[in-house]
Amino acid sequence: MEVLEYDIVILGSGLAGMRAALQAAKASNDQLRIALVSKLHAMRSHSVSAEGGISGVLYSGQHGDSVDLHGYDTAKGSDFLGDQDAIELLVNHAPSEIKLFDHLGVPWNRDKSDKITLRAFGGMSVPRTAFAGDKTGFFMLSALYDSLLSFSNIKIFHEHIATKLIIEKKQFRGLVAMDMATGEMKAFVSNAGIIATGGFGRSYGFTTTSYSSTGDGHALAYEAGLPLKDMEFIQFHPTALIPSGILITEAARGEGAYLLNSDGKRFMENYAKSKMELAPRDIVSRSIITEIEAGRGIKDERFGDTEFVYLDMRHLGEAKINERLPNIKEIAIKMIGIDPSDAPLPVKPACHFTMGGIHTNIDGNVISGPKGVIVGLWAAGECGCVSVHGANRLGSNSLSECVIWGKITGNAAARLASKGRPVSDEVIKNTLAAEEKRIISMIESDGKENPYDIRRDLWRTMDAKVGVYRDAKALTEAVHEIGALQKRFAHIGLGDKGRVYNTNLKDTLEIWNMLLLSRAVAECALNRRESRGAHSRKEYPKRDDKNWLKHTIVTLGDDKNKITYGKVKITKWQPEERKY
Ligand code: FUM
Repeated sequence: MEVLEYDIVILGSGLAGMRAALQAAKASNDQLRIALVSKLHAMRSHSVSAEGGISGVLYSGQHGDSVDLHGYDTAKGSDFLGDQDAIELLVNHAPSEIKLFDHLGVPWNRDKSDKITLRAFGGMSVPRTAFAGDKTGFFMLSALYDSLLSFSNIKIFHEHIATKLIIEKKQFRGLVAMDMATGEMKAFVSNAGIIATGGFGRSYGFTTTSYSSTGDGHALAYEAGLPLKDMEFIQFHPTALIPSGILITEAARGEGAYLLNSDGKRFMENYAKSKMELAPRDIVSRSIITEIEAGRGIKDERFGDTEFVYLDMRHLGEAKINERLPNIKEIAIKMIGIDPSDAPLPVKPACHFTMGGIHTNIDGNVISGPKGVIVGLWAAGECGCVSVHGANRLGSNSLSECVIWGKITGNAAARLASKGRPVSDEVIKNTLAAEEKRIISMIESDGKENPYDIRRDLWRTMDAKVGVYRDAKALTEAVHEIGALQKRFAHIGLGDKGRVYNTNLKDTLEIWNMLLLSRAVAECALNRRESRGAHSRKEYPKRDDKNWLKHTIVTLGDDKNKITYGKVKITKWQPEERKY
């Protein structure tokens, strides 16, 4: 066991975490010691797989675009649940972040006059998404990683999984993590911490997210008694490749690809006549499921027994596909042997993004309860709920959110950390010792339950009962089934009894995190008796602003979680009917 002292500890090394590290390092003039702790090699964080691009108004006036229009689109896309002060902040800061990444070396696609090219994305009134082919996340993360390596005061702890937050009297004190390479438990003592661990899309079996998206930061905060916000809002991306769930970027539709049902018809004209395939994701996903349920899905035994629709991009031609969408071409060829220039791709909605997260204020400072914040603790990126996306995120707004709140929280952490050095004490030592004991007893557990069976059953429940369309019966069953899985978890047995690279242990910690969060999702979804954005209740098909224009706040309880509601901030865009 080891106790390490840092001025700032950042948990998670995706775009939000790395952007926070860069900002804190710049703001601290090389003076503050910064630890970046990641359960993966930092460059394998899920942001690396972001494909389509980052939103921001680079050329105000072009196609009639403006920062205000970006704000309106985002508020409308959120089904008016997004906090509009945060939305205004997002749209105001997005252009300068895209320019920063230009300077960091991201090879944005450009036109002949060297202007950054912008592409169309769902729910955006005009093209305003900057992109680097269809590997935008990879290029942005690489640029950040390369620049972090030039700071001698940033130390990256690759492959360290966090097991506990240390919070005392509403003050962040640090966290405990296990070094995967040795199994050693380490306490990172710090006055300033930023959680940037991404989403929990892996709670679903059919998902575009990587195996690492298990909501670890959410779960650590939740177990520390901190509230989560708007957990019922799960984004289903309309075009996940069958059968793997790998993302086929929305940029394909932005470039002109369209969706076809078994009659060969572009069915989106029945659901969103003006935006068609570029309606927001909640609408396109519902339309696909409606088509399939109406018997107009397609089946092909080569792709298993799932029904799907086609995403057709043959008319774009090989040259455009090679220039703008080379990654998805490679994916389709490698995964199912189909070149999208020759044949349409089989796709279906999959869990893609979790709009809810750790309840924060507009600065990303973690809220402690009905009143106040945790001093010294922030959350940024998908794990935080600030809330910009409300009930439905628009494609390409997530990368903007990650880097903007990475910057904001990095600055705030540096400000606080420069006021005094952290001190280690009995609280830290005792917490570390207790965590060591807990981890050993987990390794030694020899119960009959295989954690992977529990994960498989969780996936079945979430896929079948907490999907695009929901109803009380299925959600009630989901709550009970997840509760039963939590009970089974008490009787797990681990096959790997070692400490070195015990991925069996890591997976088991993650499975517990997903159980906790999935239960919160199902309970919050059951409570919200309306349809808004990505939360679509069959019995309550309409949005109900009178009763439900409010954020859900959930805190962990022993038997039942405690759910309360909070105000939505409306600044300039009054709720209106959402038509596309
Ligand atoms: O389809 C995509 O490229 C996804 C983008 C996003 O989620 O923002």
